[in-house]
Amino acid sequence: MTITFIGHGYVGLVTACVFADFGNKVYVVGHTPEKIERLKKGDPIIYEPGLKELLEKNIKAKRLMFTLNLKNAVAESEIVFIAVGTPPKENGEADLSMVLSVAENIAKSLKNDFTVVSCKSTVPVGTNKQIEAILLKNKPDKLKIAVASCPEFLREGTAIYDTMNADRVVIGSTSKRAIDLLVKLHEPVCGKKIVTDLASAELIKYTSNSMLAVKISFANLISFYCEKSGADVETVLNATGLDKRIGRIFMDPGLGYGGSCFPKDVRALISVGKNLGNDTSYLEAVEKVNVLARENFIKKIRQHNISDKKVAVWGLSFKPNTDDIRFAPSISIVEQLLKDGFKINAYDPVAADNFKKLFPPGNISYVDSPYDAVNNVSALLILTEWNEFKQIDLKKVKSLMKKPVIFDGRNIYTPEIIKKLGFRYFSTGRQPI
Ligand code: UGA
Repeated sequence: MTITFIGHGYVGLVTACVFADFGNKVYVVGHTPEKIERLKKGDPIIYEPGLKELLEKNIKAKRLMFTLNLKNAVAESEIVFIAVGTPPKENGEADLSMVLSVAENIAKSLKNDFTVVSCKSTVPVGTNKQIEAILLKNKPDKLKIAVASCPEFLREGTAIYDTMNADRVVIGSTSKRAIDLLVKLHEPVCGKKIVTDLASAELIKYTSNSMLAVKISFANLISFYCEKSGADVETVLNATGLDKRIGRIFMDPGLGYGGSCFPKDVRALISVGKNLGNDTSYLEAVEKVNVLARENFIKKIRQHNISDKKVAVWGLSFKPNTDDIRFAPSISIVEQLLKDGFKINAYDPVAADNFKKLFPPGNISYVDSPYDAVNNVSALLILTEWNEFKQIDLKKVKSLMKKPVIFDGRNIYTPEIIKKLGFRYFSTGRQPI
């Protein structure tokens, strides 16, 4: 099959590489010449494990092409995926301007007698109908189009695995021909194929992301109860999660959810709810707890009165295995610490360059190793649970620090072990030691 992806963010780029790897001819369209040049040379632009190898392999096999020319790519394709960003507007609504302008450009470029236009961007209910209206208004006579919603469920850090081994593939369309083509394209992908209408497909995506955000916020809420009551959050959640109806996955308390998806999608679902005239207080509470998780962390640092205000930060990305810092907890925490007059040594295996764009070096210094970060500081703050921190030489860490104090926003250490090493240890939902 010949297919096109408009957009080369996590969703567009990773999915394009995977479909090329399955043997399809895939065009990826962008609008920034410099980025397209880098991609053509096999530079993935983003950090995602395994992506560079997949990119290089499929470019070499001439199955994966990067171009600025939307017209030619669309004209040749049986399926065109829209995979551009839908960032939040001030009022929380998803900004659909890129999606809708891409739809217009697609319509003007159609040449095949039948083309499926499928939206992979996360969009509110009703957007695919808008895309359909734009396409029908602008498409050349006689050519047929069908619109399909095909939301993506990949996670950054495990994006390739998730795309090849989906829990489910959702295809929303009223066109039998479009459904057949999309089912065929997704044949090599593991996971149940759910064929449904446009609105349900759109809502499945928001429901999934918001449900995961609900689980995380609930775990954080319980961690507040634990801290005040003397209970241990890990024991409480482990035991609760053994109930198969609940499950333990995605219930790790800490600094709240970040990234380019959950914060944006919960806000967008609130906004969709308001437009539909629904009560949105439930999801607003989810957001509130997410903010409280970060505030609770800052509060613990302030209560500790770090006299020289020198701290180390380990982890800047919103989660491990990515250089993405969008809506990362590190942003609001570092911002607050700098306002409070702290001096920070920051270390992240891959995200420091992105973080520097927001916080240029000054009162924050970027260092090349976790050990350099802790040198002569009075506290260590763990903001992302990168694997390399989990079994680090803590004796060495302690010997380098001015004072052996850890604020662990991700509960990566066992309190008893930390206690034996002689650290003061403040984690989440557990008693300080
Ligand atoms: C999320 C979803 O998991 C994907 O299924 C979805 O396709 C994607 O959004 C999207 O809409 O594109 P992602 O944002 O890459 O994926 O990352 P997650 O692994 O879901 O983590 C999101 C945030 O929640 C991170 O800040 C993470 O630290 C936090 N989190 C996650 C917790 O605080 N606790 C947990 O138990 C799990």
